[in-house]
Amino acid sequence: MIFQRRGPFQPGDHVQLTDDKGRRHRLVLAPGQSFHTHRGSVAHDDLIGADEGSVVRASGGTAYVALRPLLADYTVSMARGAAVVYPKDAAQIVGLADIFPGARVLEAGAGSGALSCWLLRAVGEAGLLVSFERRADFAGVARRNVEAYFGGPHPAWRLVIGDFPARPAGQAGADRVVLDLLAPWDQVAPAADCLNPGGLICCYVATTTQLSRVVEALRGHGGFDEPAAWEALQRGWHVEGLAVRPEHRMVGHTGFLVTARRLARGVSAPPRRRRPAKGAQADELESAR
Ligand SMILES: C[S@@+](CC[C@H](N)C(=O)[O-])C[C@H]1O[C@@H](n2cnc3c(N)ncnc32)[C@H](O)[C@@H]1O
Repeated sequence: MIFQRRGPFQPGDHVQLTDDKGRRHRLVLAPGQSFHTHRGSVAHDDLIGADEGSVVRASGGTAYVALRPLLADYTVSMARGAAVVYPKDAAQIVGLADIFPGARVLEAGAGSGALSCWLLRAVGEAGLLVSFERRADFAGVARRNVEAYFGGPHPAWRLVIGDFPARPAGQAGADRVVLDLLAPWDQVAPAADCLNPGGLICCYVATTTQLSRVVEALRGHGGFDEPAAWEALQRGWHVEGLAVRPEHRMVGHTGFLVTARRLARGVSAPPRRRRPAKGAQADELESAR
């Protein structure tokens, strides 16, 4: 278990070892075992009972800082079925999709369970997260990852193997719907049926064409307020004395985020006052030729 463990390392703890070049290794502590790297081995017994943040030495002399992984570390190093939502985007989703303690959240697809971990941590034990995953093999990966993170089944989590939404249309009750799947525009109407008035839909898409389609689908549905769309870029900085500059490398592109709030039942979105830019619609482009 990683979540909420404190105090000295115990058997069963996940531990992250970081060497002097910033390279990371993850292991699960077991008495009598050793962790082998190309720089020698580290005895698990040297870690069991030590405080977090201790420094251990491999048999070859290399020093490693030992810490329990953060959720951001865990989600990028855990086993994957489908591609995971990166921490920079998960943080945006939790913050700007306003995932609150006690919230009732529907998620599709669960994929590898990375975003499920973030959502579960945000809703807490008093909330509810129902994650839909159409592929049984990916659902298995998601379950293993989530349960390894929380140290067992999370009381607020229901994993449904099947397509979103499994519930009949018209049955509301969700505060948030979070979609990370190929064609979220197909799920706009079912999501609207599931959402409480004032609830929020959040879609994560990889390409600009998907971004356009999902935003237009939300507008076309009429039951949402004007969607917001953005991407988050995270550029690390090298800071050493007076040598202060952006890192040469960054994660250049992951995806785009779209959010929109559910209007009251029977209410349609007021017409937009801002006229679409000339040529914004494909049919206008056609007729201008
Ligand atoms: C990119 S992955 C999701 C990754 C996940 N957010 C994570 O952080 O680990 C997209 C997943 O959506 C699933 N999927 C696609 N359409 C679906 C649907 N209508 N209902 C349920 N799952 C769906 C796919 O099988 C795939 O596993």
